[in-house]
Amino acid sequence: MDKKTVYVGMSADMIHPGHLNIIKEACKLGSVTVGVLTDAAIASYKRLPYLNYEQRSEIVSNIKGVDRVVPQTTLDYVPNLLIYKPDYVVHGDDWKEGVQQKTRQRIIEVMSEWGGKVIDIPYTKGFSSTAMNQRLKEIGTTPEIRMKRLRRLIAAKKIVRILESHNGLTGLIIENTSVEVNGIKQEFDGMWASSLTDSTSKGKPDIEAVDVTTRLHDLNDALEVTTKPVIFDGDTGGKVEHFVFTVRTLERLGISAVIIEDKIGLKQNSLFGTDAIQTQDSIEGFCNKIKAGKMAQITEDFMVIARIESLIAGKSVDDALERAFAYTHAGADGIMIHSKNKDGNDIREFCERFRQQDSSTPIVAVPTTYNQFFEDELASWGINVVIYANHMLRSAYPAMLNCAKSILAHGRSLEASNEYCMPIKDILDLIPGTKKK
Ligand code: SPV
Ligand code: MG
Repeated sequence: MDKKTVYVGMSADMIHPGHLNIIKEACKLGSVTVGVLTDAAIASYKRLPYLNYEQRSEIVSNIKGVDRVVPQTTLDYVPNLLIYKPDYVVHGDDWKEGVQQKTRQRIIEVMSEWGGKVIDIPYTKGFSSTAMNQRLKEIGTTPEIRMKRLRRLIAAKKIVRILESHNGLTGLIIENTSVEVNGIKQEFDGMWASSLTDSTSKGKPDIEAVDVTTRLHDLNDALEVTTKPVIFDGDTGGKVEHFVFTVRTLERLGISAVIIEDKIGLKQNSLFGTDAIQTQDSIEGFCNKIKAGKMAQITEDFMVIARIESLIAGKSVDDALERAFAYTHAGADGIMIHSKNKDGNDIREFCERFRQQDSSTPIVAVPTTYNQFFEDELASWGINVVIYANHMLRSAYPAMLNCAKSILAHGRSLEASNEYCMPIKDILDLIPGTKKK
């Protein structure tokens, strides 16, 4: 009689004795195929794993008792089960409870079509992936790992979600905040170092008056306490001769990407649109800047993203498209298309027409004014990265202003504390290590 076949699905990011036990038990039943979840499958429901798919599958294929490793491209086991039709699926019995119950039930039903069975192995206690993930965060990251992460996220996720950060504290919010929506943990994928909020938080205008050296010095605060990738708002990139140094510095710090906009002269914030004089660079001039930046970088991973200001300057989608193709041809690793129109029609038209000719170059969008669209809709237009570009500072400022006014109005802080402030206990607990253990 042919040897029975067994299927085990796993992420295998941090292999522990619990995994080895499952494989050992699976082995007793027959020949073991491990479906290793791809980055995309994992990113569909939780944080991108530390190791990439190739590394994880190589590790698993070297575990004693594993006969074959195959990619599992969805969180759902069923597509692979229909291909391999195993006699058994083996899993830790922890999935009999909680959110995984439904998954288990569905697998039992599908397997019954060919007489296959689900075998639950007693869960090995003392190894929690969540706790191990926490430890991993404490270990931190390296500039190289952080930098590579953005490209991995773009490849793995339908849309990458980035939030503005202008200091260590906002970096920590982005690093740690999650919300469960329909059983799936939603979190931010990385940080946007915005020129608008970097300048505003210093009480200075967003006109490249705060120099790159100062901004990077301050960005270090966020880098110190986070592991997620950073996209740096490089404004115009300055002079070509200066931009090459910026690229080198950003790369060395482990920043994943710089976005430079195709404007010249005194830069003013894009959200003024045509209310401010917005002079665009020539296509040739900006292509030269992109080329110089790409030449300057040392790794394969760092991204130079070209930001098109045609729609901001009141020009047509045709103009934006002409520039987009020229900039990608010059070596840009991605395109950011910006607009201050509220209906989103120009952005949508740009994306759809760009995608007809280029299916792969990442598109970045900053839906500050057209904020009625959900991420899924933006993704369906072909957008890969969404940046919420200023929301940490815009939400903090009114709260601080109200607090200040309340103290003035009442001649004491009681009302302000009750209405606008977090309890003292909470701020003392906010940053681990504030109190000596
Ligand atoms: C920023 O956040 O500084 C930006 C985006 O460049 S915008 O303010 O919309 O121009
Ligand atoms: Mg800016």
